[in-house]
Amino acid sequence: MSFRGIIIVLSLFVLGVAFSGFAAYSETVVHPKEEVTIDGKKLAAQNCASCHGKDLTGSVGPNLHERGALLTEETIAQVIHDGVNGKMPPMGGGGLKSDKEVEAVAKYIASLSEAK
Ligand code: HEC
Repeated sequence: MSFRGIIIVLSLFVLGVAFSGFAAYSETVVHPKEEVTIDGKKLAAQNCASCHGKDLTGSVGPNLHERGALLTEETIAQVIHDGVNGKMPPMGGGGLKSDKEVEAVAKYIASLSEAK
């Protein structure tokens, strides 16, 4: 291969490395929101444990491991959102800022019964 040929091959290689580096970089910055995970377990500890006990096994409010087995994820989400007959305050818009957070907690509570 001529000297010129080697230069061309080298430049293509350098360009390729530079471009793949750029592509990898742009992937991480284009979707920053998707990397934020909503941790239902953590949110439940922060927002529900005060009344439902440290491990959500019951205190002022009932044991959520047992209630989780009786209620669907949708019902739990509704309970979190609306509260219960003035006995449990509505949590949506309080500690739980978005529907996504309410859903994540509901999913976690519903999963407690499955873990048994
Ligand atoms: C201020 C105290 C308090 C907080 C905070 C609280 N709860 Fe409750 N919760 C209660 C009480 C009291 C009841 C029982 C209501 C009743 O008498 O049926 C209850 C009942 C429930 C029930 C059962 C409802 C039913 O129909 O059987 C679920 C599910 C529940 N809470 C989930 C949650 C979740 C999830 C959170 C956190 C996002 C939470 N609670 C935060 C006090 C609370």
